[in-house]
Parts: sequence; C-alpha cells; structure tokens
Amino acid sequence: MPVRMAVPKEIISGEQRVALDPTMAERFAKLGVEILVEKSAGLSAFFPDAAYSKGSRVVDSAQTLYAEADVVFKVQGPTLEEVEQLKDGTILLAVLSPHRNVDVVKRLRDKNITSFAMELIPRISRAQSMDVLSSQAAVAGYYVALRAATLTSGFFPMLTTAAGTIRPSKVVIVGAGVAGLQAIATCRRLGAMVEAYDIRPAARQEIESLGAKMIDTGVNAAAEGGYARELTAEEKQKQADVLAKHIAAANAVITTAAIPGRAAPKIVTAAMVDNMKRGAVIVDLAAESGGNCELTRPGESYEHNGVIIDGPLNIPSNFPAPASEMYAKNLFNFLSPMIKDGALNLDWNDEVIAKSALTHGGKIVHEPTSKLVG
Ligand code: NAI
Repeated sequence: MPVRMAVPKEIISGEQRVALDPTMAERFAKLGVEILVEKSAGLSAFFPDAAYSKGSRVVDSAQTLYAEADVVFKVQGPTLEEVEQLKDGTILLAVLSPHRNVDVVKRLRDKNITSFAMELIPRISRAQSMDVLSSQAAVAGYYVALRAATLTSGFFPMLTTAAGTIRPSKVVIVGAGVAGLQAIATCRRLGAMVEAYDIRPAARQEIESLGAKMIDTGVNAAAEGGYARELTAEEKQKQADVLAKHIAAANAVITTAAIPGRAAPKIVTAAMVDNMKRGAVIVDLAAESGGNCELTRPGESYEHNGVIIDGPLNIPSNFPAPASEMYAKNLFNFLSPMIKDGALNLDWNDEVIAKSALTHGGKIVHEPTSKLVG
C-alpha cells in the first residue's frame, strides 16, 4: 500500500504558510505516494484546494487527516492537541524548536512518533537544498529590508528631481548570515548605501561582493560549522564602541544576528538608540529570539525618542506563497530519495536523517534535547 502523506492546515495564530504547495504535492504523488490535504490548508498562502487537484485528495477535517496519515508535513511544530490526534508511529516533519516545546517533545516520544526537526538538518553542502533555516531566512531578509525602507523617514535611493536632490539612506546591517545578506542585496537594489557587520571574518567577502562596506571592529568570533561563538565581555565592548558610531549615522539599522539555540545577542544598546537620528528605524529580525536591540519589544513596533523600533515575529509568513514553495522543496529534497514505488524507507545511516531526528522508537534521539528533558 502506498504511504499516506498528509498536510494539515496550520493552526498557530498568524501562520499563513502551508508545508506543501501544489507543485511539490504533485511531485510527491508522482513517486507513487498518496497525498492528503486538509480543506483550506493552502488558502492563506494563495493555494486554493482546487490547485491541489493533481494527485492529492482534499479531506474535510484535521481529525480525518491525522487518522489516515503515515507521514505528516507541518511548518510550525504541533500543539499538544495536534500530537494527540497523530496515530502512534506517525512520521512528522516540522520546525519543532524542541528547547521551547519540551512538553510536545515528551508527548512525541511517548506516542512513538518519529519526528524530524527540519531546523536540525546539518549544514553540509549536500543538505543545502533541504535547509529550511536558509530558505526561510532568505525570505525574512528580503522582508525586513522592505520594512526598513518603508518605516524610515527618508528614501533609500538618491532621487534627483526638479525639486532638488534627495540623498540616499545609510543602512547598517548587523549579522551577515543568510538573512543579513539577502537584506543587504535588497537594500542595495533599492539604492541605499549599506554597511554591514558580522563577527565571522568570512562574511567580509560576501558583504563586499554585494556592494556593501564591511564594518571592521577587530573582533573575530568564528566557531565550528560556520556559526558564531558567544563573545567575551571585552570583545563585546570593542564591538560596541565601533558599531555605535556607524549606528548613530544610519537612517535604518537591520539586525539579524543569531547564535543557534540561544537567545539573540544584545548588540544595539539603549544608549546607541538614544544617539540615533530622529526618523531612523531599527528593524530587529532577531525579535523572535529576544532581539538584538535592548529596546526591542517582540511583536511590537513603537517609537522611542523619534526612532522606530520594530520587532516583527514569524517574518517568513508575510510572504506565504514563496516561503511555502521553498519550504516544500526543502521537504521534498529531504524525503524523496527514500521513496520507491510509493513506499518510504528511512535510511538511518544517512547523517542528514540521523542528525535531524528528534524522537524515534519511543526515545528522544537528539542528544541536547534529551539532556534538556532529563
Ligand atoms: P544565524 O541565523 O545563526 O546568524 C546570523 C548571523 O549573525 C551569522 O552570520 C552570525 O555570524 C552573525 N552573528 C552572530 N552573533 C553576532 C554578533 N554578536 N555580532 C554580529 N554578528 C553576529 O546564521 P545563518 O544565517 O543561518 O548562517 C550563518 C552561516 O552559516 C552562513 O553565512 C554560512 O556561512 C553558513 N551556512 C552554511 C550552510 C551550508 O553549508 N549548508 C547553509 C547556511 C548557512
């Protein structure tokens, strides 16, 4: 019997994405699997039920969907209520954020669910096409650049008009990972003068190749796996002194700095904000993990002494169609090599599979989460 793969409607408030778009649903169906899509699952991402007509079956309720599913694709991790509806032994793929959802992880373990946390996929070259952190960060980086461009009091490009010449905006981007680089590229396309900063020295080349200037603070914090390590107090001070000057001159500051699994580093202090120009804006992409600016209020946008401080949450959901398409492609690239004639055989010798698994066989198989749960 072909494996049944199911796509429920996301139920977390504000989530507009869907885990499979019609194109990827059709590609899965071509591999001989059966695809079930909950009614209206793709609607908020602009994919009506009719768009899933090729090879997918639309079912009326989540309850029916979960009762039939062997594999469940989600964007957000499930709520406890959703976990209760899963059949024992279901395979679940989603962004599970285990450190924030310990109760859900315990239930997944106890219900013998084989769950894959898509954000744990190792960042090796072979797995780049499965990397949901990268695909969604690209969407987020583009969005925050547009947001900064509309929230700041000036124009991003230089405008030469009969009524005079308007100078271009200065934008400072802190953190030049996937999101930061996309933000740099977007701000440059809009004509802003862009300076960027990252603690990884490798970022310099990428920043400069996009036509931005690297802010050099003299601090190097490269760590294993292409990520950044936490800075010492002395390094933080050195970084802050240099950054403060650039931030004071900026019309827009976009912060994207993150340390995986940790709260976002506080880089823009209240004192730095107080020295900013009136009409400037800080868009803090790291708001989800606490924010890079001391004054960020996650989920809020407010004015502080003439400076707008903006802390948007669940940013990729603001472009639900392309974000869903990219996410779905990541899922397809992850799972499709293990599907043959409609049957799914997980290859536990594959490091991508082994390292992204969170629960399996009634155990928490991701070591840091296992330690956390105790
Ligand atoms: P991230 O979202 O974890 O962090 C964003 C950026 O913030 C990073 O570039 C980091 O160096 C920077 N950062 C952290 N603390 C900072 C601080 N105190 N001050 C300034 N900047 C700070 O990272 P992301 O974007 O997910 O990936 C980071 C890097 O990982 C990429 O640029 C790339 O080199 C590598 N990577 C490799 C992949 C692969 O080989 N499959 C896929 C994606 C990324």
